[in-house]
Amino acid sequence: MKKIGVLTSGGDSPGMNAAIRAVVRKAIYHDIEVYGIYGGYSGLISGNIKKLELGSVGDIIHRGGTMLHSARCPEFKTKEGQQQGISQLRAFGIEGLVVIGGDGSYRGAKALTEQGFPCIGVPGTIDNDIPGTDVTIGFDTALNTVIDAVDKIRDTATSHERTFIIEVMGRNAGDIALSAGLAGGAETILIPEENYDMNEIAERLRKGQERGKKHSIIIIAEGVSSGVEFGKQLKEATNLDVRVSVLGHIQRGGSPSASDRVLASRLGARAVELLIEGRGGRTVGIENNKLVDYDIIEALDKQHKLDLELYKLSKELSI
Ligand code: F6P
Repeated sequence: MKKIGVLTSGGDSPGMNAAIRAVVRKAIYHDIEVYGIYGGYSGLISGNIKKLELGSVGDIIHRGGTMLHSARCPEFKTKEGQQQGISQLRAFGIEGLVVIGGDGSYRGAKALTEQGFPCIGVPGTIDNDIPGTDVTIGFDTALNTVIDAVDKIRDTATSHERTFIIEVMGRNAGDIALSAGLAGGAETILIPEENYDMNEIAERLRKGQERGKKHSIIIIAEGVSSGVEFGKQLKEATNLDVRVSVLGHIQRGGSPSASDRVLASRLGARAVELLIEGRGGRTVGIENNKLVDYDIIEALDKQHKLDLELYKLSKELSI
């Protein structure tokens, strides 16, 4: 393998730059040329490809976002789009591709691999919803961003004796909501994986008030309901003075935490090693702090599982 490519795709996440840096430097260390594909799979289709040098990835390890830019690309779901992407890669003499992204990005990498072009999937998403790894690049940073916001909201919630609903990201996975709820001491956590009962929530708030508790924090994952809609229903059920904060895309930005930088460096470098070993079609991940890799096709057939023990614990601690 003499030339490889790297791209970032889907929703960006803090630490993607650190992963790109690791791919580039590990490859150059092994005398392999690296090409950056700009704009995710859209850039692959249009051939927005440039050679990266050691200096191209200088001064990026601490930056959020992705220097290669990212996109969601419906065209790449078609066979024509995928074939066009492979032609572009071959025109540059690129023999393997590292794809940093989430579920949709993995599906693209899987399609290319099935058509004979070796790809390695590196899990980069704040959602933490990728099978084959305990944690994804960006989750830790996003969690800390959410906690910072929750702590600040708690201050004003206490001052005004209000109930706050905080909507966080996570269309299909409740990992951000659950961990942020646990770390932020939320009274109620609502996640897509578990149903909720409005009467039970109202009763819990009422009991808290009887005990002298004047404020409450409820964290809701966007996949459950919009925070605003849930807020209306809660107000109807309880008549409490409810406020809603939707954290939105601030969760995707910011300088990556130390933990995300280390994770990204390890996973990016491992992806290059797999290509060198001629083992395309794999995903890299970390389990019990050890690097692991899985067949990309099998990995995608598995389901990411939320830690239900954490959910149980959050319920016990928020009585
Ligand atoms: O997949 C990451 C994510 O941030 C999700 O949590 C969120 O639902 C989605 O992306 C938002 O996507 P977009 O930025 O395209 O609106």
